[in-house]
Amino acid sequence: MPKLHLITYGCQMNEYDSERVAGLLKHARYELTESPEAADLILLNTCSIRERAEEKVFSQLGSLRRLKSANPDLLIGVMGCMAQLQQGRIQERAPFVDLVFGSPAIARVGELVARARAERRPVIETGEGPLVKIATPPDGTRRLKAFVTIMEGCEKHCTFCVVPTTRGRERSHPPESVLEEIRGLAARGCREVTLLGQTVNAYGRDLTPPTDLADLLERVNAIAGIERIRFTTSNPYNLNRRLMRAIREVPKVVEYLHLPLQSGSDRILERMNRGYTRARYLELIAEIEETVPDIALSTDLIVGFPGETDEDFQQTVDLVERLRYDNVFAFRYSRRPGTPAAEMPDQVPDAIKASRNTRLLTVATRVAAERSRALEGRVLPILADGLSRKNAREATGRTRCNRVVNFDPEGQDLFGEVVPVLITQALPHSLRGALAGREAVLQAAGMQPG
Ligand code: SAH
Ligand code: F3S
Repeated sequence: MPKLHLITYGCQMNEYDSERVAGLLKHARYELTESPEAADLILLNTCSIRERAEEKVFSQLGSLRRLKSANPDLLIGVMGCMAQLQQGRIQERAPFVDLVFGSPAIARVGELVARARAERRPVIETGEGPLVKIATPPDGTRRLKAFVTIMEGCEKHCTFCVVPTTRGRERSHPPESVLEEIRGLAARGCREVTLLGQTVNAYGRDLTPPTDLADLLERVNAIAGIERIRFTTSNPYNLNRRLMRAIREVPKVVEYLHLPLQSGSDRILERMNRGYTRARYLELIAEIEETVPDIALSTDLIVGFPGETDEDFQQTVDLVERLRYDNVFAFRYSRRPGTPAAEMPDQVPDAIKASRNTRLLTVATRVAAERSRALEGRVLPILADGLSRKNAREATGRTRCNRVVNFDPEGQDLFGEVVPVLITQALPHSLRGALAGREAVLQAAGMQPG
């Protein structure tokens, strides 16, 4: 059997796409291998969100060239966002690449690989294609958690972002195909799904008849075997009360919301074309906290956007302090080709970006540690998902707010079960806990979110 080696960069959507590619190529008799040296086909699933992500791919391609010289039959392909955005540069800097295709062409990967093999010249496929839901999982092993893409593309035009260019128009998958995929996952032992979309809370408005995320969450909730439902990424612009209520009322939906703020300064938000103000974002947070007490929040922030002054930046830090995020993903602004922000005159020097990034992370780490400590003494339902990395006799799992908890499984195999755990200690990157007794089971059944 020919062998496939897959290298995935970037977001959860890329991880999902890579799994589909592995599944589709399995039909073409390709078997996955961990070793690039043993492979007949190497595919790089790439990310364009920041320049650094692209540089990693070019340097990886540089080292793969050696394999190609040793084995002329080896096919090398680049897929995903860079394929869409940088096809010219890929051909220039890595002319030995045999296949370049964007995410719309994934469904035809088998045919594209066959063509690249037969034609012996580069096959480039970066046009728009029909919307196809590929539900083929890569292998038969039990997977406790899975991503499920429910919509493709993005039509917002944040001035810093390449996603609308690389992933095309916003298109939702019909609920029936999403539900069928999740039923299949549940039948193979999956317990937790994360529904993916660039603006996941705008789901369904393009469908006939239109539907929405709240409705989909309810329908996923009805699937036996699934214990937890997550979704990402929500956009503040589209966040409404119906979804907030669904987070509270649909039992399997966790009390966790990733809501990218990007900046705490109105001046910068406007230049980013985010479509909300600081006050509007605060209003949304107040509303969600009132609807879902105990909600855990996380966010994405960009430091050093063109024109960002120290005062603008301070307003971002201020919101991290105030909103007490469980988790903050901070990024230094990266100039992306073809985006309006890349052309803005007042670019911020790298050194300033770096120092703001450090300052921001210091505050974010402190706030997250405080949030962790507040969980000490509580009994939380934990989805046990394996053994601790540091100590193989210890079980590990996650709270509904997605924190890692290590605990003694008392000799039981708890993999895939939701068990009540008393949180005994908050450490910098994880929590310690102890299996809790029967009363605690009842208490946790009240599903105190955590
Ligand atoms: N759809 C999501 C964002 C996807 S990109 C949303 O609506 O927010 C993930 C994150 O990468 C973004 O939230 C942003 O914080 C960051 N990002 C995007 N473009 C960037 C750029 N040019 N430079 C730095 N960070 C960027
Ligand atoms: Fe990018 Fe903004 Fe869409 S960050 S993915 S253009 S919502």
